[in-house]
Amino acid sequence: MRLDKLIATSTAFSRAQAKGIIRGGKITVNGEIAKSGSMKLDDDAIVEYMGVPIKKPEPQFIMFNKPAGVVCANVDEDHETVFDKLFLPRMDTLHIAGRLDIDTTGLVLITDDGQWSHKITSPKHQHEKTYIVDLDSEITEKQIRILSEGVQLKNEVNRSLPAKVEVVSNLKIKLTITEGKYHQVKRMLAAVGNHVVKLHRESVGKIQLDANLKAGEWRKLTEEEINLD
Ligand code: URA
Repeated sequence: MRLDKLIATSTAFSRAQAKGIIRGGKITVNGEIAKSGSMKLDDDAIVEYMGVPIKKPEPQFIMFNKPAGVVCANVDEDHETVFDKLFLPRMDTLHIAGRLDIDTTGLVLITDDGQWSHKITSPKHQHEKTYIVDLDSEITEKQIRILSEGVQLKNEVNRSLPAKVEVVSNLKIKLTITEGKYHQVKRMLAAVGNHVVKLHRESVGKIQLDANLKAGEWRKLTEEEINLD
């Protein structure tokens, strides 16, 4: 993290004020007077303001039950955003780990820990994401087979990775995928000749949407959920 960002997120100083106190020679990093706000800090750097330690705040981890109509963006002129629904410290440091479309509901993870969100979303780690999918027409054996084997999506070089399909009813499936391409579930169903009418995310990796959270509600993740891998 940059020095001026650490000061602005950990104290009452703004970023501009942080730059001013650095220029004034009041900040030390590992005992040396810091010269620039853009200085990159090691994780174990000791930062002090006139001898008082400045500590990085604890990272935040949130699960949110996204209602339809709310966008996964930091700002939006026309719609409510996920962040409009939260009331947390250091809101400007938070980001979404794996976005949902405006009309998709369910589990959204929010954090300010970049390494954690990278682990959750990176294709390399292949975390499973489970969706309840309401369909326009009855699911067929052929469609299930193609989804399970991997679908050729429009404008993609490679087929999607094999998905798990569980039939809930003729017009409803539970679909588990390990990728997170743009509109992936809708495109997968379109590619087999069906159409998604409603989409809800139940889980990401081993983190399940808390059944006690109503649409629009959120809670902090437990230590166990944060450390699930
Ligand atoms: N796949 C989609 O098509 N949309 C989402 O919001 C999530 C996965």
